[in-house]
Amino acid sequence: MKKQFVLLLSAFTFIQSHAQGPKKEPAVIPEPVSLQQKAGTFTLPKTVSIEAPAGADLQTTVSFLKTHLSVPTGYNVTASSAAPNAAIRLQLNKSADDKLGKEGYRLSVSPKNIVLSANTPAGLFYGVQTLLQLFPKEIESAKAVSNVRWEVPAVEIMDYPRFGWRGLMFDVSRHFFTKEQVKQYIDQMVRYKYNLLHWHLTDDEGWRIEIKGLPNLTKVGAWNVKKEGYFGTFSPPAPDEPRNFGGFYTQDDIREVVQYAKERFVNILPEVDVPGHSLAAIVSYPELSCTEGADKYVVRSGEPIMDWSHGAPPIAMVDNTLCPANEKVYEFMDKVITQVAQLFPFEYIHLGGDEAPHNFWEKSEQVKALMQKEGLKTIPQVQEYFTRRVEKIVASKGKKLIGWDEILEGGALPKTTAVMSWRGMKGGIEAAKKGHEVVMSPTTFAYIDYMQGDPIVEPRIYATLRLSKAYQFDPLPEDVDKKYIKGGQANLWTEQVYNMRHAEYMTWPRGWAIAESLWSPKEKKNWKDFFGRVENHFQRSDVAQIKYAPSVYDPSFKASKDANGELKIELGKEVDDLDIYYTFDNSFPDNFYPKYKSPLTPPKDAVQLKVVTYKGDKQVGRIIAMPIEELKKRADNKRNVE
Ligand code: ACM
Repeated sequence: MKKQFVLLLSAFTFIQSHAQGPKKEPAVIPEPVSLQQKAGTFTLPKTVSIEAPAGADLQTTVSFLKTHLSVPTGYNVTASSAAPNAAIRLQLNKSADDKLGKEGYRLSVSPKNIVLSANTPAGLFYGVQTLLQLFPKEIESAKAVSNVRWEVPAVEIMDYPRFGWRGLMFDVSRHFFTKEQVKQYIDQMVRYKYNLLHWHLTDDEGWRIEIKGLPNLTKVGAWNVKKEGYFGTFSPPAPDEPRNFGGFYTQDDIREVVQYAKERFVNILPEVDVPGHSLAAIVSYPELSCTEGADKYVVRSGEPIMDWSHGAPPIAMVDNTLCPANEKVYEFMDKVITQVAQLFPFEYIHLGGDEAPHNFWEKSEQVKALMQKEGLKTIPQVQEYFTRRVEKIVASKGKKLIGWDEILEGGALPKTTAVMSWRGMKGGIEAAKKGHEVVMSPTTFAYIDYMQGDPIVEPRIYATLRLSKAYQFDPLPEDVDKKYIKGGQANLWTEQVYNMRHAEYMTWPRGWAIAESLWSPKEKKNWKDFFGRVENHFQRSDVAQIKYAPSVYDPSFKASKDANGELKIELGKEVDDLDIYYTFDNSFPDNFYPKYKSPLTPPKDAVQLKVVTYKGDKQVGRIIAMPIEELKKRADNKRNVE
């Protein structure tokens, strides 16, 4: 019996691993805790009846399900709280099913009906997301589609998340995104069971939240000069260039987005990034700076303001810090925090703390006097003094402070402060060992502003994070007490993200990898299986008209020089069953061209290597033209892009 089972299992594995193309449903992301496929399928009847408990906290879930089942099918879908023979039944458990916790669900699909149960409305919401992923991809269509068999495979699913904090950070400061776009981002994230939007609301490039009594923040601080190209290297704007690019949210807008998120079981973590990254605030109220001449500053439009060539902390060319030695700063922070605390029901407020430069504070007489008065020996201790002061304000509003891992550097941060680890996992590990709550969002796995492939193709930024690497994210390091690790998140900084379509491109599919790292059991993670589901979700996203990056299909390039100084080019791939075709003759390669098998040496006069990838006879990668000069430079500098 056991042997037979093993044989069967290996036959199944064989079929799975040699399958070409997207995995068929069930192809759920994130992978459920347990999913058993049964015999048969459920076919959606032309008149669909849904039974669901009445209650305001389920209204959005039910109408979401109704819309998704009626629009693409053209079927008549009704919902009621008493329809015992309904084809689809949503049930709140009368006594708690302990396994499921606050966000889990059970989903039973049989040829006869669909039953979804959970302890909470949130659990039902996540169960609905899973159910929709079991339908054919056309269920994602915003208009009626004909000739589709609206069938769902029979399954028994039991599911709950590994972590309670499953976040995406959206930076609306570097580029402004409207409240409608933020809602759209929320719509997209909940499909993958994210439950937290970290809203990065302020930075050097724009202050985005109305604060009553501080009108300049949005009159002045929300606007810069529109520039396109490589952010960070833009020419400084001329004094007469119009400062009309940007925007902000009124407090009504904020309330509207918070309510929208709440109906979808998403908490919003607001971030006001201080004391660094505060140029927009300083331009609005120059008295918040320790530096003379701050009244001449302008909100940044992407021109260089920091010199990173010496590493961190950066050398600032303009002082973008709030003055820690100025009581007016704490009055300002009190006003801001009071209103932020009222607008956002979430228990945490993020007050940044990252990348505050030292060079202006080191020179400031005010800061020197503060150091003497408070017995502060180092600049990180000065920052910690600031953090302690603002934490008191946060606590007085009944909230908890979370900040980027630099806030640990003073060495004596109170345990009540939570830490978001971004410079790798190290800061998070150190913080958890000291008893702080921690959220992991390391650059190494979770920075989705990084390029997803080679800079010759992707919009250029200073680092790369491929999908397969993002999939390796595990927020829980081995030697750390789980109770301190609240979860993790992926961060979308938007210096190079100019519009919503590109925000989508940067978020998906890496956002799926992070979602699975945060929701699914660690033991169930499997790159090959995940990638089959990714390909299914590429197709679903096509129907849903959500953009994603196909970069995972593009090869990587490794250039080196052999003993004779000849250039050697190795091409790599993230997924196994891809073929790479290439040419040095400048024409456009396809699957009739030479297939890459081993390292290449370019012909003497070649100027570019062109490559493309195929899966069987289907082109999946983009044609990439790589200059030989570029490869020579990379080989000489020993700087390859992973
Ligand atoms: C950060 O990426 N500066 C938190």
